[in-house]
Amino acid sequence: MTMKKPAAAAKKTDAASSAAKRKVAPPTLVRGMRDLLNPEWAYRDKMYDIARKISMDYEYDRIETPVMEETALFVRGIGKMTDIVEKEMYSFETVGGEKVTLRPEATAPVSRAYLQHGMLNRPQPVKLWYWGPMYRHDRPQSGRYRQFTQFGCECIGDSAAVLDAQQAFIAWKVLDLLGIESVVHINSIGTPESRANYKNALVAYFRTKKHKLSEDDKKRLAKNPMRLLDSKDPGMDELKAEAPQIVDWLDEASKAHFMQVLEYLDEMGVPYQLDPYLVRGLDYYTKTVFEIFAVSEDPEVSKLALGGGGRYDGLIEQLGGNPTPACGFSLGVDRVINRLREIDPELGSKTEPREVYVAQLGDQGRKKAFAIFEQLRAAGIRASGALSKDAIKAQMELANKRGAKWAIIIGQKEVLDGTVIIRDMDSGTQETVDAKKIVHEIQRKLGV
Ligand code: HAM
Repeated sequence: MTMKKPAAAAKKTDAASSAAKRKVAPPTLVRGMRDLLNPEWAYRDKMYDIARKISMDYEYDRIETPVMEETALFVRGIGKMTDIVEKEMYSFETVGGEKVTLRPEATAPVSRAYLQHGMLNRPQPVKLWYWGPMYRHDRPQSGRYRQFTQFGCECIGDSAAVLDAQQAFIAWKVLDLLGIESVVHINSIGTPESRANYKNALVAYFRTKKHKLSEDDKKRLAKNPMRLLDSKDPGMDELKAEAPQIVDWLDEASKAHFMQVLEYLDEMGVPYQLDPYLVRGLDYYTKTVFEIFAVSEDPEVSKLALGGGGRYDGLIEQLGGNPTPACGFSLGVDRVINRLREIDPELGSKTEPREVYVAQLGDQGRKKAFAIFEQLRAAGIRASGALSKDAIKAQMELANKRGAKWAIIIGQKEVLDGTVIIRDMDSGTQETVDAKKIVHEIQRKLGV
């Protein structure tokens, strides 16, 4: 019997099919954003496991702050005149009128959380670690992403130099455990007072060279003269070499603190390099600052820092708390992974072979296979299967592909008998066993 389509329904179907025919451009990614697919996760999981373990070994507690904070937190914390706050923040107003920013980093948020949760009443220092996405509207290129992940540690409430060294050590150790050779570039930028004197000397020097500065560097001279030291302008190398160096302007306490940090690094065998030009792009630092770079013959590889950190004794007070010394670091997970992929290209393609493959015939068999797969999984046996498949030949091919030593086959007859077939994938021999004993049988065959 044929049924006639009612006119309205027919019209609707025609409209739908012509809409389907009209090609709609598929949605694309927002510029600078990335999907993270395999094999990326093999590397990320490896780094995450190491980062988590070492954080726990060094008695750091996990913290996760929200990706969105009040804009004022970053303006006050990182500094109004920094590149991050001036150019790179994803800031917007919510429908409720709040001015918010997707976090460009986590030190200011963790410090906010320290204050908000009254952590100053806990035994000091409070040691916290995090792993999560950060957002900076940087120019997208290899190693510079607009959403990137940081792993970091913050140690708040203690001024001891050994803790600065511990931050650099943990960052370096994570890379070392991943098989990445790295070197810590380190400097001291002293207290705000000693830095103010140094800044004056620096400005006086660069004013005499103003005619040689690029337009960007002239702006830096006016707004944030310390940033002239990490200017990438090729003409700057010569000018920097003649410029006053911060070590000569450090107060005695900062100098002694820095010497101690270096002694601890010597003691722990951390490779480091003194870098008088290292000033960092965030205003909250005091005394120790460091960055960590991969060691490689290829200048492109060792160009971008894998991580950075230092001491930030003034930040908590700047955010409204009591004066509270602190230090920390963050590793750029994406950059570390890029390096790891270069030195261990195989890691991402390694798949763990499965011990058993569960195959089925017919709908009753499928139900049983579903349940047996779960019993095997719960018993810690690495099983594979393709529940939606019907043809046994295709399923046996999959079993071979997955490296299974044994296949469990459940057909209509086995369901009725309460049995399953176990097939030795190498010899092709089969035996029938009681379905209730399947986990035990497989464990026996695997010798567990
Ligand atoms: P930072 O140097 O701005 O420091 O960032 C740390 C690391 O994050 C960098 O060394 C880099 O590996 C990675 N990173 C930064 N920007 C990007 C980007 N656009 N794409 C990919 N990776 C990037 C901080 O964020 C401080 N909060 C570190 C700290 C913690 N200081 C004290 N405690």
